[in-house]
Amino acid sequence: MTATIIDGKAAAAELGDAIAVETLRLREKGIEPGLAVVLVGDNPASEIYVRSKTAKTAALGMHSVLHKMPGETAQTDLLSLIDRLNADPAIHGILVQLPLPPQIDSDTIIAAIAPAKDVDGFHPLTAGRLAAGLPGLKPCTPLACIILAKRIHKKLDGLEAVVIGRSNIVGKPVAQLLLAENATVTITHSKTRDLPAVCRRADILIAAIGKAEFVRADWIKPGATVIDVGINRVLADGGKTRVVGDVAYEEARAVAGAITPVPGGVGPMTIACLMLNTLRAACDIAGLPQPKI
Ligand code: GUN
Repeated sequence: MTATIIDGKAAAAELGDAIAVETLRLREKGIEPGLAVVLVGDNPASEIYVRSKTAKTAALGMHSVLHKMPGETAQTDLLSLIDRLNADPAIHGILVQLPLPPQIDSDTIIAAIAPAKDVDGFHPLTAGRLAAGLPGLKPCTPLACIILAKRIHKKLDGLEAVVIGRSNIVGKPVAQLLLAENATVTITHSKTRDLPAVCRRADILIAAIGKAEFVRADWIKPGATVIDVGINRVLADGGKTRVVGDVAYEEARAVAGAITPVPGGVGPMTIACLMLNTLRAACDIAGLPQPKI
């Protein structure tokens, strides 16, 4: 048996089509959803992510602006830009690409973004609302994981979900979303005892640790759904780099029931979720009902 491949690209394209339709509807009401992406410095991986995000925003009919700032930008200058974007009626979503250079404190920057425009879902208020089970924007990568898991399991009720990684960007919020779906959730991390044994309990295994091919086939319960959040660049034959996930894909495919590939899994769906959040934020700010997506 080999696993069903969960095609994130195809799923993201479907969601993108629905978002484009709703965006058009909103534009007919005189509202053009707008996303501002801020990139500080010239981290090559961040450059690639930011380019995909801004290109997709424009492709779905939204207003897209990219603010590129030099690596030596002072924190006060970045805060001034965020203040301007917070006050700009053409902007409904603000995304500051992480990581930021060392002279800038990410927590201070994240807290400065108006919660109504927090399309990343990283603001403490947004994170708190998620933890409290209140309505609000959901962080993009965790939301992408849930949407992809639901391509396999209509309902997550009672399923054992194991999350590897406890970051504020993925591990913690994806655990909250799984809990909201009535899964039984375990969050594991670097101090977890016998990680492979804990992972083997999972009906849904979410790998978000940022270590290339860390999860091996014998960590996976036969038939489990594996969602791989990792994007790791490794040196391939001939000196080129290639991108691999946090899961040893080829061997995992022989054991899992379903698995997301890297690339082409969680990545494209994360970008689609960012577009969805921008659309949602635009509706909320305009006092309009949420789109039925
Ligand atoms: N860097 C890596 N992932 C993300 C993300 O989801 N949002 C932002 N802003 N930066 C990131």
